[in-house]
Formats: sequence, C-alpha cells, structure tokens
Amino acid sequence: MKAAQLLTSSASPNPAVDPRPSTIAVDGPAASGKSTLGGTLARRLGYLYFDTGVMYRAVTWAALTRSVPTDDEAAVTALAERLHIEVEPPTVEDGRQYTVLADGVDVTWLIRTPEVDAHVSTVSAYPGVRRAMVAQQRRVAAAGRIVMVGRDIGTVVLPDADLKLYVDASVEERARRRWLEVQERGEEADYDDVLASMRHRDEVDSHREVSPLRVAKDAVVLNTTALDIEGVLDRAERLVEERGCPVD
Ligand code: CDP
Repeated sequence: MKAAQLLTSSASPNPAVDPRPSTIAVDGPAASGKSTLGGTLARRLGYLYFDTGVMYRAVTWAALTRSVPTDDEAAVTALAERLHIEVEPPTVEDGRQYTVLADGVDVTWLIRTPEVDAHVSTVSAYPGVRRAMVAQQRRVAAAGRIVMVGRDIGTVVLPDADLKLYVDASVEERARRRWLEVQERGEEADYDDVLASMRHRDEVDSHREVSPLRVAKDAVVLNTTALDIEGVLDRAERLVEERGCPVD
C-alpha cells in the first residue's frame, strides 16, 4: 500500500512551530458521519485523510469475487496478506473522495454494495486479516499529519494519537443516512433491510474478540444524531485548536 500518502494536500509546516495535533483518530459505528467529518477535517487542515474501512471492504470484495468463502478464516487471511490495496486521489469525477484499487482493479464503488456490507464484519473480525491491515495503516500514519478513520484507530492502531474523536448517532438515524446514500447512487434499497444489516454489523463489530469497536478512554464523543455536519465540524475544529501537540 503506497499511494495513500498521495492524498495529502498542502505543504508541511515546520512541526516545531505547528501546535496542531499531528495524528487525529476518528472512530465510530457505520454511517455515524465519521468519514464526512474525517475527510472535511483533513482537507481543512491540509492533512492526509485515510479511511481504513476501505481496506477491510477491499478484502471482502476480493473474497466474494474470487469465490473464497468468507467463513474460511485461513483462506481469507491468506488473501488479505497478498492483496495489493492502493488508495489514490480520485481518478474519476463521480463524487468519490478517493480511488481504491485492489490488485489494480478500481473497486471504489464495488466495495459499497449491500453484499460487501453483509460480509465485511465477518472478514474484519479475523485476527490475521487485522494484523495485515493494521501494519499497513501504521506505516501510512508514521509520517504524521493524518486523519485516520475506522473502528479501532484510537484504541489499537494509534493509541498515542494526539486527538481522538468518537462519532456516534442512533442506529435509526444511521440507517436512514445509509439508505439515502444507496438511493442517491440510483440503487434499490429497503430501509428495513438497511437497518437490519446495520444492527448486525454493529453487533459483530462491537463484540468481536480482537479490537472491538469501543470508545477510547481519552476520546471525545461527538453525537451527530441531532447535529448537522457543520455543527460537528465546528466542535472538532475547536478541539483541534485546544489540543496543541507537544512542541519539541
Ligand atoms: O462506512 P461504514 O461506516 O459503513 O463502514 P466502514 O468504515 O467502511 O467499515 C466497514 C467495516 O470494516 C466495519 O463494519 C468493520 O467491520 C470493519 N472495520 C474495522 O474492523 N476496523 C476499521 N478500522 C475499519 C473498518
């Protein structure tokens, strides 16, 4: 995984005089608003934006398309270890925030199907899959100036992140948002099916043995059920200003 670094934007300021947090972890359940918050925050700060969910989705897509049963832990783990995942700046102007390649195939939208949604929690619960993904994520984060979004960023991937946000919303509101997203892409979706799939994913993500979704002790919780994106961004930006990282 190399090209994620390319998503960074403006020039690096001198870390000795930049008092902003350098590593920002954003965690939360499906469709809580963490990707929108993370992407916008990174753009405004000129930081790299890295949505780790795309990696687990890419492995799931690869398993489904290569007839690797998602309940075959050894086979899925071997696949995760050899799959070449790249995240690049958008290569097509179709509303995407980035382009995701899996062994060279553009899977940016293919990893968003209900079928991937239904299997991704099983795949991402495998310890070997997580080991392979987390190692790559830490390599990408090593340079700092990054907003990394996922489920276990503040707890496991970057436990020393300078700022940790946990974005949450009610499951009904999250299902409504996901249902609207699917419809906007011109696909059919039944709200009750989306809600059931989201409840299932919440359950598996929160109760798996390795790196379950939970709020890091030092994370700030942002509830987006009633707050619009501008309200959440305002709060996050105030926190960034308040939490200067230590200046050497
Ligand atoms: O966009 P949405 O919130 O629906 O999901 P996502 O962030 O793309 O993540 C998809 C799935 O990948 C999650 O349901 C988790 O099972 C898994 N995941 C994870 O285990 N750890 C991460 N750091 C990110 C995602």
